[in-house]
Amino acid sequence: MTPRTRPRRRRSALLAGFAAALTGLATAVVLPASSASAATGLAALAAAKGRFFGTATDQPELSDTQYTSILTGGEFNQLTPGNRLKWQFTEPVQGQFDFAEADREVNLGLAHRMKVRGHTLVWHSQLAGWVTALPSDQVQAAMEHHITTEVSHFKGRVFAWDVVNEPFNEDGTFRADVFSNAMGSGYIADALRTAHAADPRAKLYLNDYNIEGTGPKSDAMYNLAKSLLAQGVPLNGIGFQGHLAVQYGFPATMAANLQRFADLGLDVGITELDVRMPLPETAEKDATQDLYYHNVVSACMAVRRCVGVTVWDFTDKYSWIPAFFPGQGAPLPWDENLVKKPHVYDTIADALCARPTTT
Ligand code: G3I
Repeated sequence: MTPRTRPRRRRSALLAGFAAALTGLATAVVLPASSASAATGLAALAAAKGRFFGTATDQPELSDTQYTSILTGGEFNQLTPGNRLKWQFTEPVQGQFDFAEADREVNLGLAHRMKVRGHTLVWHSQLAGWVTALPSDQVQAAMEHHITTEVSHFKGRVFAWDVVNEPFNEDGTFRADVFSNAMGSGYIADALRTAHAADPRAKLYLNDYNIEGTGPKSDAMYNLAKSLLAQGVPLNGIGFQGHLAVQYGFPATMAANLQRFADLGLDVGITELDVRMPLPETAEKDATQDLYYHNVVSACMAVRRCVGVTVWDFTDKYSWIPAFFPGQGAPLPWDENLVKKPHVYDTIADALCARPTTT
């Protein structure tokens, strides 16, 4: 894909046209009157508003020096290891922990003044095989030991943990997995309490996808959060992953949805943002993608307790999308050649600078 540089006025007109065309998907999009300087890193723009702009990363890309020079070059002030803090890597054999690769990523972030999010402690996927093979009466002890050991290891270095990832089905029922099968939905409170005991200063999150707008899954997360807080469970935030696609419409209720969680006294964050499209890339799909990026970042900026936005890696070169969604791609602000896409980058910069908008 070749990045295009359009005159800004033309780009804004195109975006406005798409905003009008997407009636019912996104309303009242306020496009910025003036462009933010592309020379200013996204991190600096976010920090000026008390937020972070972050990215995920992973081991394969860290040997790519062109990649790492962008990663550590000031565009990002938050880092999320995309894989290496997951159970399959940190405790591949019961009781045998290996934090070498995770340490490398966490320390890289800290060395470049990035806040580090811990992803993730309890998840049905990318588990070590031995966990799913455990007799159910041993799962709770294994989960608690895993959380205590991992959180303690990173105490003071990881500012926020996705303690439980993706606990819900699309209809808002609890996902059946080794943890809920053994402990019922109470595993979530137990996981949060265990993490809090290991690092009382870490911010503890629940994280999920398809909860960006209101709906059964988001409502289930809201009701769970409310119930946990009422029981005094140490829950500090909700992560909205933000894996969007131009062909599925924009979750128009996003800002209001973030706000209702914030009104419970929780932090919120966009934790895994990308906007994919069916290939080939076209100017129309790019314009829709720009609009979605703008709307997501604007939704975060409109909610005081939205702590920041994290893209799920920053370059198409290392995106998870082509492997998981064959025929789709081009989801991130930098292309496969590690060249910044002005149309995506500028719209993010604009949204970070603009007055809060309503989506
Ligand atoms: O570790 C093995 C390696 O030994 C093997 O040689 C190689 C061969 O393909 O695979 C490696 O495992 C891969 C793993 O990432 C680590 O690199 C898996 O194949 C691959 O499927 C896995 O994909 C990850 C995916 O989670 C798994 O669900 C993506 O990189 C990661 O970006 C993605 O991240 C998730 C978030 O954690 C939760 N939200 C959704 C998001 C996207 O799926």
